[in-house]
Amino acid sequence: MKVQIIEHPLVQHKLTLLRDKNTGTKEFRELLDEIALLMGYELTRNLPLQDVEIETPVAKCFCKMLTGKKIGFIPVLRAGLGMVNGLLKLIPAAKVGHIGLYRDPDTLTPIEYYCKLPSDTAERELIIVDPMLATGESLVAAIDLLKRHGAKDIKLICLVAAPEGVLLINQKHPDVKIFTAAVDDYLNDHGYIVPGLGDAGDRIFGTK
Ligand code: URA
Repeated sequence: MKVQIIEHPLVQHKLTLLRDKNTGTKEFRELLDEIALLMGYELTRNLPLQDVEIETPVAKCFCKMLTGKKIGFIPVLRAGLGMVNGLLKLIPAAKVGHIGLYRDPDTLTPIEYYCKLPSDTAERELIIVDPMLATGESLVAAIDLLKRHGAKDIKLICLVAAPEGVLLINQKHPDVKIFTAAVDDYLNDHGYIVPGLGDAGDRIFGTK
């Protein structure tokens, strides 16, 4: 199983608070925002730098600046929206595309109902954002979709993953690196990650 688990103590602490069923909507949103920023920090650890010459009030010097591809965040609707603001605090100039998928009740295959991507999708480093990597089928469909739009450099950030989902992404898209705060035990018969945190969308938006 190929996945990078973000072990940072603050991430793990906040994840425990998110898992707690007594954590209400307001606190859940705030924690998700904070954890997304912390996870984004790890995710961007290897962004390339270049030396540029600048002049401080004291002297000229060569200093580091980001170079390389621009970033695009691609939240998968709707739970992915809960992590976007935290990530944008880190990279405010990133573009944001949105993908909406639903599951066909008969065939159970993911069907695209919304897709709006940056015009230069093919040139960007894209980070797909979805708090829950469950079966992995909708995320495989999201990656397929981005690749059809020319994307060549894709990462996936989620909060909690099921082993089943990680294995499916590894198998179908071995080039996509997965970052998560935890790989849980298994998926139950209703498609929930166990122990997980319940329905992430419902907990972010206060719906049932
Ligand atoms: N989606 C969720 O929101 N929660 C799960 O446990 C699985 C999929």
